[in-house]
Amino acid sequence: MTARRILVTSALPYANGHIHLGHLVEYIQTDIWVRFQKLRSHRCVYICADDTHGTAIMIRARQEGRPETELIADMREAHLRDFTAFDIAFDNYGSTNSESMRKFCHEIWAALRNKGLIAERDVTQLYDPEAQTFLADRFVKGTCPNPDCHAADQYGDNCEVCGRTYSPTELINPKSTLTGATPEVRTARHLFVQIEQLHQFLNDWTQCGEHLQDEVANYLKGHFLSEPLRDWDVSRPAPYFGFEIPDSPGNYWYVWFDAPIGYIGSTADWCEKHGEDVTTWWKPHLAAGCSQPAGNAPGCEQPGAQCEIHHFIGKDITYFHTLFWPAMLHAAEFNLPHKVHIHGFLTVDGEKMSKRRGTFVMASTYAKHLDAAYLRYYYASKLGSRLDDLDLNLEEFIAKVNSDLVGKVVNLASRTAKFAQGSGLSASYPDDDGLFAQAAAAADVIATHYENCDFAAAMREIMVLADRANRYVEDHAPWTLKKDPAKAGELQDVCTVSLNLFRQIVVYLSPVLPRLAEQVGQLLNCPIQHWNDAQTPLIGTAVAPFTHLMKRVELAQVQAMTEESKQDAAPVAEVATDSAAYLEKEPLTAENCTIDDFVKVDLRVARVLECEEVPESNKLLRMTLSLGGDQKRNVFAGIKGVYKPEDLVGRLVIMCANLAPRKMKFGLSEGMVLAAGAGGQEIFVLSADSGAQPGMRVH
Ligand code: 2FM
Ligand code: ZN
Repeated sequence: MTARRILVTSALPYANGHIHLGHLVEYIQTDIWVRFQKLRSHRCVYICADDTHGTAIMIRARQEGRPETELIADMREAHLRDFTAFDIAFDNYGSTNSESMRKFCHEIWAALRNKGLIAERDVTQLYDPEAQTFLADRFVKGTCPNPDCHAADQYGDNCEVCGRTYSPTELINPKSTLTGATPEVRTARHLFVQIEQLHQFLNDWTQCGEHLQDEVANYLKGHFLSEPLRDWDVSRPAPYFGFEIPDSPGNYWYVWFDAPIGYIGSTADWCEKHGEDVTTWWKPHLAAGCSQPAGNAPGCEQPGAQCEIHHFIGKDITYFHTLFWPAMLHAAEFNLPHKVHIHGFLTVDGEKMSKRRGTFVMASTYAKHLDAAYLRYYYASKLGSRLDDLDLNLEEFIAKVNSDLVGKVVNLASRTAKFAQGSGLSASYPDDDGLFAQAAAAADVIATHYENCDFAAAMREIMVLADRANRYVEDHAPWTLKKDPAKAGELQDVCTVSLNLFRQIVVYLSPVLPRLAEQVGQLLNCPIQHWNDAQTPLIGTAVAPFTHLMKRVELAQVQAMTEESKQDAAPVAEVATDSAAYLEKEPLTAENCTIDDFVKVDLRVARVLECEEVPESNKLLRMTLSLGGDQKRNVFAGIKGVYKPEDLVGRLVIMCANLAPRKMKFGLSEGMVLAAGAGGQEIFVLSADSGAQPGMRVH
């Protein structure tokens, strides 16, 4: 196996709040993947940093009456304490507010300017005269401007009651959420990256099948790449906590411009400490003397890239990492990500984490009551390679930990180690009916699951091995052999087999349970250091006195944790920027729909009687649909880019007939047309001669 050079990152946590169990999904996932790569002897470096800039941190520092630098220093300490408690082992933990970072921001900015990708224009926004800052849409609340709605207390970008989207300047009686002041309308100059110029590159890079999960590539194609990419606003006027843009005094880079550059800055810090050259990671084509810049078109080819960059992120920040970031890297001729691994959100007991229910659990609260290993294992057992949300079901959590880790894995050692303590392991490996060889042969399958981030499948394979090993122990009953001194040799052999099967399992689990792996190394006097340690049995070594490796989880511990979380009002690292404002797209979600939800949906065949473009919209067609008889519906459908209105007239479509009518800017929409396909030209409705009749129910 050739050793790879792999640079791995997790998303940089905001420095405006503490780490909670939702954040930990990603850090645990990444840490497991990194430990796995290291165990396989690859050169793997795990990079992270605090994401320190932006309005939210500036405001919080003001509220606390201290400089931002003090706030971010305290938060850094707290973050590191939390990560350490969960065995998240970064190779470097930097900060986006550092000089190494500033240097790379300048370099990338200069490249964007030189390539003619930066545009300037005025932006009119609401301004908080008390806080003396412009307000992102999410920092303004007021009454919905829709005359048929007028719901109070709505955010500046859209109304949660009627669904209408608008500009914050349209809100009735707007108030700043920062100070409660009435905002003023002001205009300021902003700088934009014209990423449409890189459309072809982004299309190639996202769609080549190498760098993204299929559902992410399809989502990008359907939601962004099928139409011109809008300019990205990357500047914010003073006051703003961040780096001032060198050629635009009084303007600062928006936090989302510099946050991903933190990956490079933190790598540079690590290189400095280890006598390495950062270009070998981020500009390997230069380091190797290759004349062709990395990642030049076509997108998926990366000449000279001898280092793989892997980003792990949550689905809410997909477009930053799959559109803007590759665009910046490409323009500035940096190494492009080999893979962006995207995971879903955490729910607890099937619902969003909730302070009221005590399921909004901070990392530090969890660590007070429960062993980090439990959560690492539970998350591993639920994490697949797709973007599905992960549910922490607290009952299942207790059952799984007790049954798998304590009942199946640790039990192997607790039932045999004490009997082998005096004798040590047998001098040669006994006959075990092929069990060790069978488990050794499972190494490749398990490794493939780890590599593909299908940890759930890896855990299932490992538990099959644990079941087999437990059957062996039960069949050979060492506790009975122990009673007969004449059977001491047999007892030693049985313990040798059991402890070797146990060790094999712990080798496979060691990316997930590093502490257990360390303890087992001590117990059997041989540290676990390599994936291949599962290929050769240990023989003739001493066995140390057995100490408890893992305790059962008690319901009372979980209850104590949720009780404490109800009291816990600590602010958390929320996405408190205007990051969602770009492009007004719905986030990439994969919530489950139950059968009860599904049967409520009334799907009908309908005929398109009339169809016309909505001139003010890039996407919408307005249709009059017939459901048979004189039943008619007015519906807006976002398929303007792929069908000419005249081609749809007379065709049959499937519509959701019982969707609550929704007032839109252009009129009332009384249903929804269903179309399938990846987007772009590939959106399908029914053909005219499908044999269906208007009004027919779809089963
Ligand atoms: O969403 C967040 O929490 C951001 N702080 C993540 C930044 S990731 C990267 F771009 F730095
Ligand atoms: Zn409304």
